[in-house]
Amino acid sequence: MAVLDIVKFPDPRLRLKAKPVQTFDKSLQKLIDDMLETMRAAPGVGLAAPQIGQSLRLAVVEYADEEEEDAKPKTYVLINPEIVKTSQETVVATEACLSLPNLAGEVERYEDITVKAKNRYGKPMKITASGWLARIFQHEIDHLNGVLFIDRATNVYELTDEEMAEIKD
Ligand code: NI
Repeated sequence: MAVLDIVKFPDPRLRLKAKPVQTFDKSLQKLIDDMLETMRAAPGVGLAAPQIGQSLRLAVVEYADEEEEDAKPKTYVLINPEIVKTSQETVVATEACLSLPNLAGEVERYEDITVKAKNRYGKPMKITASGWLARIFQHEIDHLNGVLFIDRATNVYELTDEEMAEIKD
């Protein structure tokens, strides 16, 4: 496994609409493992393939559900994800991104979403997520469409490294 370089704004690769994953071969498995390692090293709770310079509809997420007590982080590999259902309710919270160091902003997201995707072996799955997990999924799926949180934020501001560490994203 390897820690990959994270593409930083304003690199134009962050603005591409990523292509669907077609083949679930060995090189895809290696890419997924490298993305997981890169996300953990950053550290971050999510990483999309365009952020490591690959125009593919693939994102990894690792997050402990805040609603469960002493929850262990769960790992999600989302391939060709599609949001198929959203709640009417939305929630505004502070977001950041590994591709936009030291920036944060308030972003409105759906409170609950249902995502259809394939797992790392190509098996179809459906996940319903709420709260922060739903926010991370929406943020990562945006990356696959070339959308960054600063496009949706009502305000964007600079933070110190210490302040950044307090944001769970
Ligand atoms: Ni991001």
